[in-house]
Order: sequence, then structure tokens, then C-alpha cells
Amino acid sequence: MESESNFSVEIAGIKMKNPIMPASGTAAYGEEISDFIDVSKLGAFVMKTTTLKPRQGNPTPRMCETDAGIINFIGLQNPGIDVVIREKIPFLLKFEVPIIVSIGGATIKEYVWLTEKINNKAELVNGIEVNISCPNTEEGGIAFGQDPEIASDVIAKVKRAASLDTVVIAKLTPNVTNIVTIARAVVLAGADAIALINTVRARAKVRGKDETSWLNGGLSGSAIKPIALKLVHEVAQAKLGVPIIGIGGISTVTDVLDFLECGADAVQIGTANFINPNVMMEVINGLKKYMEEKNYSNIEQLKKGKML
Ligand SMILES: Cc1cc2nc3c(=O)[nH]c(=O)nc-3n(C[C@H](O)[C@H](O)[C@H](O)COP(=O)(O)O)c2cc1C
Repeated sequence: MESESNFSVEIAGIKMKNPIMPASGTAAYGEEISDFIDVSKLGAFVMKTTTLKPRQGNPTPRMCETDAGIINFIGLQNPGIDVVIREKIPFLLKFEVPIIVSIGGATIKEYVWLTEKINNKAELVNGIEVNISCPNTEEGGIAFGQDPEIASDVIAKVKRAASLDTVVIAKLTPNVTNIVTIARAVVLAGADAIALINTVRARAKVRGKDETSWLNGGLSGSAIKPIALKLVHEVAQAKLGVPIIGIGGISTVTDVLDFLECGADAVQIGTANFINPNVMMEVINGLKKYMEEKNYSNIEQLKKGKML
């Protein structure tokens, strides 16, 4: 159908029906959310960050609502890469949606081992999103994404280890002084695309029924949208020659348009999935309607009409 292809995008060679995907960790591996939405309608499916060994994550409390957005301190709870390869990837295959596996390591070697394991299923996996931006683990994570040399080393080694057809996406943290320095470093190291932003380091008081405690973690949701827009715009202005996937506080078509206008080529929706599991479908339908109303025949044209 013509209207279907109208808002398709190609992100470093991954063909997506539309520019909308779930942000890692907010739709798990698709099993629960597929009870609410038609996963095959998504542009791509980005999995929860997976580590080499299973992780229990951090003890509770590890989620807290704030005035605008939530703080999470989950700490990468996941079943480990072997289970993901054996059970989670096969589950998603039936939806015929591009699959992006998110990986996280405590050492650079772990990122490489994860990539090598994924290579065994390389024909089923379209991309690897390299999470060098998680603020909630003791080793690796955000510390790798805050240092241009280490960030570059991780991406170069993952890119070298990855199968030729696998797109490597670097997911960046907003918790840096100069986002362009990090973005440039990962692109020079071979990143095929950049995704930004992960959560913003934050602290809030958790007020329980019987006791209160302080929670340090990552802030997400509408509170961080202006931060994300600024950083996406800065990276876009640097013209690094790779697609940009915008993330942060997106829950409406207007939010998506704002990100496209600031230079994103596609977007991910995170926290909003917890508030309304149908939000990604609503945004996809809304974006299609918007393009038809405005007579944009494709996303490129929409971007050209709106680019700042
Ligand atoms: C509960 C929760 C779990 C998350 N887990 C991950 C994760 O495993 N890997 C990752 O790269 N980002 C993770 N994130 C960050 C999101 O992917 C996203 O970058 C961030 O929340 C900003 O988008 P949003 O404001 O739309 O939520 C998580 C966020 C939340 C709220």
C-alpha cells in the first residue's frame, strides 16, 4: 500500500515501516506488550539491555515518580544473552519487525563476547544498540559513555566483532559536558547510528507508607524532553554523517515532530509505554494522519519542510 511506505525510514540500512520504536527497557522483550499492541506495526523492536550473565538488578525501591517523569534504578535486570538468543529473539521473529538487541557490559571484553554470541543469530538480528549510558550499574555503563576514548574503544571493538550486516548503534548518555565530542568519537570508531538520550542522573525522596528513603537513579519522561532535544540538535548540527535516533519524553505526534525538526531520523518511546501501553500505536497512526493532512509524501520531505 502506498500509504504504508509513505513514512518508512531507513536507518543505516535497517528498513523500518515508520520511525517509531520502543526505547530499550520499556517494552522488555515484547512478550507482555504484545498483549496490548500489534508489535508488527512498529518501525523496529529494541530489546531490554542484555548482559552476558543473568542479572537480578538492584533491590527495591528502584522506581519513583517525580513531579514530571520517573526515576529508575533497575540496574539492568535481564535473563542473560543465552536466554535472549534461545527464547526472546525467536519470540519476536513472528512479528517480522526489525530486531535491535541492546547490549551492556562491565568490561569492553564483555561487549565483544556479547557481540560474538549475537553473531550466531546474525541473520535474524538487524542491529546492536550498544548501551554505554546506563547510570545504574557499578561497572561499565555510563562511565564508558562519558569518556570519548573508552566510548570509541567499545564501539570500535563491537563493530569489528559484529557481523558485516549488523548495524551498530551507540546509545549515549546526556550526563556529559560535551555530547558532540562523544558522538564524534563513536562515529569515527565505526558507529552506524547514534541513539540519544539515556536517562538523566537524578535523586528523589521515595515516600512510602511507613518509611521514606532516597533514590538515586535515571530520570526519564516528559521532564527530560527539552534536554534530549538540545542534545539531538547539537549532534545533528555537527553533521557527523550517521542517522540520529532521538529519545526522551516522547508521547505524542508533536513530540516526534519536535525531534525530527531538531535533526532526528527516527525516535524511541520509553516511559510513556508505562502510562499508556498503546501509546506507540497512537503515535504511529497520528503521524500517518499528520503526513496525509500536510501532503508530505515521505519523512525526508517532512524533515526538509521543518528542519531548523
Ligand atoms: C524502567 C526503565 C528501564 C530502562 N532500561 C533501559 C535499558 O535496559 N537499556 C537502555 O539503554 N535504556 C534503558 N532505559 C532508558 C530508556 O531506554 C530511555 O533512553 C529513557 O528512558 C529516555 O526515554 P523516555 O523519556 O521516553 O523514557 C530505561 C528506562 C526506564 C524508565
